[in-house]
Amino acid sequence: MSSTPTTPEDMLIIHGGTPLQGEVTVRGAKNLVSKAMVAALLGTSPSVLRGVPEIRDVEVVTGLLRVHGVDVDLEGDTLYMDPTSVESAGVEEINVHAGTSRIPILLCGPLLHRLGRAFIPDLGGCNIGGRPIDFHLDALRKFGAVVEKAPDGTHLSAPDGLHGIRYELEYPSVGATEQVLLAAVMAEGTTELRNAAIEPEIIDLICVLQKMGAIIKVHTNRVIEIVGVSELKGYRHRALPDRIEAASWASAALATEGSVFVRGAHQADMMTFLNVFRSIGGAYDVDDDPVEGGIRFWHRGGPLKPVALETNVHPGLMTDWQQPIVVALTQADGLSIMHETVYENRLGYTSELRQMGANIELYSECLGGAPCRWGRRNFLHSAVIAGPSKLHAADLQIPDLRAGFSHLIAALAAEGTSRVYGVDRYITRGYENFESKLQALGAKIERPVAQESHATTHAEP
Ligand code: EPZ
Repeated sequence: MSSTPTTPEDMLIIHGGTPLQGEVTVRGAKNLVSKAMVAALLGTSPSVLRGVPEIRDVEVVTGLLRVHGVDVDLEGDTLYMDPTSVESAGVEEINVHAGTSRIPILLCGPLLHRLGRAFIPDLGGCNIGGRPIDFHLDALRKFGAVVEKAPDGTHLSAPDGLHGIRYELEYPSVGATEQVLLAAVMAEGTTELRNAAIEPEIIDLICVLQKMGAIIKVHTNRVIEIVGVSELKGYRHRALPDRIEAASWASAALATEGSVFVRGAHQADMMTFLNVFRSIGGAYDVDDDPVEGGIRFWHRGGPLKPVALETNVHPGLMTDWQQPIVVALTQADGLSIMHETVYENRLGYTSELRQMGANIELYSECLGGAPCRWGRRNFLHSAVIAGPSKLHAADLQIPDLRAGFSHLIAALAAEGTSRVYGVDRYITRGYENFESKLQALGAKIERPVAQESHATTHAEP
């Protein structure tokens, strides 16, 4: 087990070997909901966001909005946000609410428009890579922000307001595209963003901004043009469904040889995943009823097939789909390849799968169709998975959110009883009610009986 400590209670006991059968519901996408909440800061009237999942990232952004004077109220899965009295927050309160979240970066544009200043705590890297924010800061400077690095973090101000820019991203970063959108919608003049990310969550954020009164044109070839306006109003919006969570349940069905109906899963946002799912040996059936619909995923029977895959920006295979797919590929009959091109260090979790009996080797070479940014820089970013391997139970330490869910899937597929540590710290960030969903699918899981000693240290990654 890796050394990151967690409390003994932050653990799930999984008795594996039972195929997952049944139905789960996915609600709004974590990676849209948090950004749409930030967008509400730009409005002069309240916003209403529907389909909000009960996850910790929503709590984090709620805390950040509240310390900035936004009235936030959650009723069921509907979030009401009133930004009419936005105010500055102290560094301490921002730090307390942000924790290790990266969301404070995205508050910059809206806060510079509303208050003329913003603050970003020091974020550092994480278990999946360095996670720099150079694109964000570079774009904000070009918009006219003054960026000052201080011992407590980065302080930004906009003494002359923000002005439209022509900007080309070095890489189609999701966060940096959102940064530019949130700054440009109320900047003076027109912004042209080239090499923009066009993930469905970005398009949904554009829909939110358009409802608020923004003028945004999405051209071909990753070009987005934004005409700044002087005022935006609140919005009413239903978040697009979480395609990462949907793919996670689909992969769990495949790895455990089960069948899961994912209510809310949306075909158009998952096309690339669906093609991969079928090519490995999974089957699916789409019910596109707007209210009750979803996608049923199941194992077709017989051995799974090996495949060569690489992650990429949309419309490529999402980097967040990579980990659950790799678990399923440990059961494929032959050699599979996964080339991770988005993050430099997103295969570390495979060491835990090896401990469970998976045969996975990591390489620094680009084992994909085209060389990527990490090939010449010695990052272990390609994996060769030789299957099928009989997975056996183990004690697992979750390193990050998506890898963590893939560890759960591996433990569910394995024979015997595994202990998975770090579930509260990581999984609850992005998977709502995952324990009751697992139970509804027939998984045999339990929490440890509470112990008296709490001696273990709690360190953030
Ligand atoms: C978003 O992260 C998601 N997070 C990630 O999901 C997702 O994996 C990623 O997009 C890619 O789809 C949220 O939406 C909250 P990026 P983001 O900027 O925006 C490099 C999850 O678990 N880069 O598209 O931070 C970066 O290092 C999370 O839900 C720079 O070099 O990702 C990476 O190699 C994990 N400089 C690449 O771009 C910058 O200033 C893509 O990152 C910014 C990014």
